[in-house]
Amino acid sequence: MKDPITVSVTGAAGQIGYSLLFRIASGAMFGPDQPVNLRLIEIEPGMKALEGVVMELDDCAFPTLNEVVPTCDLNEGFRGTNWALLVGSVPRKAGMERKDLLGINGKIFVGQGKAIAGNAASDVRTLVVGNPCNTNCLIAMNAADGVPNDRFFAMTRLDENRAKSQLAKKAGVHQNAVSNLCIWGNHSATQYPDFTNAKIDGKAVTDVISDRAWLEGEFISTVQQRGAAIIQARGASSAASAANGVVDTVKSLTNPTPAGDWTSVAVCSNGEFGIDTGLIASMPIRTSDGKSWEVVEGVEIDAFSRDRIDASVQELKEEREAVQDLMS
Ligand code: NAI
Repeated sequence: MKDPITVSVTGAAGQIGYSLLFRIASGAMFGPDQPVNLRLIEIEPGMKALEGVVMELDDCAFPTLNEVVPTCDLNEGFRGTNWALLVGSVPRKAGMERKDLLGINGKIFVGQGKAIAGNAASDVRTLVVGNPCNTNCLIAMNAADGVPNDRFFAMTRLDENRAKSQLAKKAGVHQNAVSNLCIWGNHSATQYPDFTNAKIDGKAVTDVISDRAWLEGEFISTVQQRGAAIIQARGASSAASAANGVVDTVKSLTNPTPAGDWTSVAVCSNGEFGIDTGLIASMPIRTSDGKSWEVVEGVEIDAFSRDRIDASVQELKEEREAVQDLMS
């Protein structure tokens, strides 16, 4: 039997957790032959609900689930972890400014970054989902002394999947036909789903979809506002598709990227594409071995794209400014 992979999930009793844990445990993330240990982290008020989730995990008798540890202790929660999935965060409440939210959640991610640095396996990789995920990731990365910056990611894969699905619908093709879709910038309403570099069946999207006004207008705003549209329709946020985005992100980072394609995830910028060094910004990346990764070079950015990327990067700079006191 293979050695188990240890996965820590914060916010494990929340909505996304409820969709995500069963997919990890069933083998959807690492394959049907790979055992997993789950370390499930909640705050004290969430522990009772987490107990119920653990009972349900037991009741699935998953062949790939090796061990489950529910805890509200961060050191125990991140002990020996190979993948830290930081899903839990405090939601924005009525009357709360974005700056207040950044501050409240920022403190949480300082503690989690430190606990990862102190307890995780030497190959740990961290994916931040809890919003505002780019800046929460920046804070955790800065707090995690000794863990290389290239092990920190913030999730924009749900946005990529949403964008692919919209393009496929418009072109009347299956979503598998859409490739090279990059989400740039922040996981927020300023994100830019880049149709200028995307392809459908290997052809430029702009050659397949002639409705340029739709691409520049409705397509972008639909992807940017999709989360709000789902809340309005369902009366609850998009938890199952977010959990699916987490599974897809980890799969894409642990398996070679198909030739010629890329995937979107927010990573620490080294100044690529004119994005300020040190920001956690979404860009196109690929991996050849499922371990190390690189930013794809030579992706063309036209004037339309430049304006949108710059606007999203500007927002990331403002968020960084707002949490400066939390960064060592
Ligand atoms: P939820 O409110 O249902 O669950 C959050 C859970 O986190 C709760 O059980 C809560 O007790 C727990 N929690 C809060 N603070 C914690 C802490 N310090 N340590 C451990 N657990 C903690 O929320 P849901 O729907 O599961 O969403 C989670 C986060 O994911 C939200 O911030 C949401 O905005 C974000 N999100 C991100 C997406 C992305 O694409 N990056 C997409 C969808 C949601």
